[in-house]
Amino acid sequence: MKKTIHIAGNWKMHFLPGEATSFIEKVTPFVKMGGVNVYIAPPYTSIQASSRAAKGSLIHIGAQNMSEHESGAYTGEISSAMIKEAGAQFVILGHSERRTYFCEDNQVIHRKLKRALEEELQPILCVGETDEERSSNQTQAILEKQLREGLRDLGAKELSLLMIAYEPIWAIGTGKTATPEMAEEAHGLIRTYIQSFASREIAKKIPILYGGSVKTENIRDLLSEPNIDGALIGGASLDVRSFAQI
Ligand code: PGA
Repeated sequence: MKKTIHIAGNWKMHFLPGEATSFIEKVTPFVKMGGVNVYIAPPYTSIQASSRAAKGSLIHIGAQNMSEHESGAYTGEISSAMIKEAGAQFVILGHSERRTYFCEDNQVIHRKLKRALEEELQPILCVGETDEERSSNQTQAILEKQLREGLRDLGAKELSLLMIAYEPIWAIGTGKTATPEMAEEAHGLIRTYIQSFASREIAKKIPILYGGSVKTENIRDLLSEPNIDGALIGGASLDVRSFAQI
């Protein structure tokens, strides 16, 4: 059976609403292939314009983050209901930039995940190790801890709505991609670990995306690995040509 591929763009802090609209209008004609699900996460303020531009296309629009709280006195925060109303269908949670620059730990990410599921938003949970952790052979322990704490108490139904992105921190925005073999090994560990607390069926079904310096030159080899179901793309998702080619 041919696997379904998931290609997600993380625009980070780029693109005003007009720029987002024009990007989506240009990329839409390329997104018509069956078997490929395409996701774009614009900044909050461009979600609504992006979702309007993507209407009727096969592109899913989502957010890069959201608050763990439903509503209340949380100055500067954006809730799950707000992103959903703006047109988000999914949300990226636990991106390493959120973990590093905004002090998000596995507990916060877990609460956001629960909130997203309650709001019927599809979460993309990001996990990944630092350079140091990899060199000291801690990759497996780190991934398992992020998954154990992030996915704590999720039922089978909730787990089956989830996507996971393996993003080794040393590969994000650095031009240093994990080799397909390295990524495959980590994806295999993730799948086996999920199987240990969920079922084989769920572990098989959860899409595991690779992220970290994905570009047109390396996507094919990465996707040829059995446990790599797609990619989460930063830099290369900002260019219509490269995103369309991917
Ligand atoms: P990159 O970013 O493709 O620019 O390395 C990936 C990500 O941060 O999700």
